[in-house]
Amino acid sequence: MNLVEIKSDEPVRTVRETQSEYAEICLPNYTNMLGNMLGGHVMHLVDLCGAIAAMRHARCAVVTASIDQMTFLHPIHIGELVRLKSQVNRVFRTSMEVGVKVWVENLQTTAIRHTSSAYLTFVALDAANNKVLLPPIEPQTEEDRRRYLQAADRRAYRLAQKDRTKSTG
Ligand SMILES: CC(C)(COP(=O)(O)OP(=O)(O)OC[C@H]1O[C@@H](n2cnc3c(N)ncnc32)[C@H](O)[C@@H]1OP(=O)(O)O)[C@@H](O)C(=O)NCCC(=O)NCCS
Repeated sequence: MNLVEIKSDEPVRTVRETQSEYAEICLPNYTNMLGNMLGGHVMHLVDLCGAIAAMRHARCAVVTASIDQMTFLHPIHIGELVRLKSQVNRVFRTSMEVGVKVWVENLQTTAIRHTSSAYLTFVALDAANNKVLLPPIEPQTEEDRRRYLQAADRRAYRLAQKDRTKSTG
């Protein structure tokens, strides 16, 4: 896969510019026999919400290179609202780490519960499938800076995991 350089006058972007939201009502076609949303569908929504944040940074197509471990803390029932928020935590060269957080809102009681969090890595590609060198991102809040610093350790871990997968494949 080739690498395409970005224009040198691309400005630094902020984490805030990438912050995105996505929401969906839990409907019967995405539930199991207990009426709870399928874990795979929650992962699909996480991928979509993550991709929006990644594209807001890259301003081109992105593909999911990896999704880190996910835990489902509470079931999501038919009729409840799944709410997701995402942002780019750190940009490397052609890849970026995106964090996605998922809540479930009961529209009758107004109760909101955090159900899952995930880190995804997206790679930017141009229309000819070449990897694109991304502009840098600037964390501005304390929280953004913490996520930015920790993203380096997570990247090292997931690239080591990738190597292990390759060597056992
Ligand atoms: C992801 C993909 C573009 C990587 O292409 P590649 O030619 O192997 O590229 P590289 O090894 O140079 O990796 C490109 C970047 O992605 C990162 N990367 C690759 N695999 C990764 C992984 N499993 N986890 C985290 N980062 C990963 C690399 O570290 C590199 O980052 P950097 O440029 O910021 O330093 C390619 O494997 C692909 O197209 N995979 C399928 C993607 C897809 O279809 N996803 C949908 C789900 S099926």
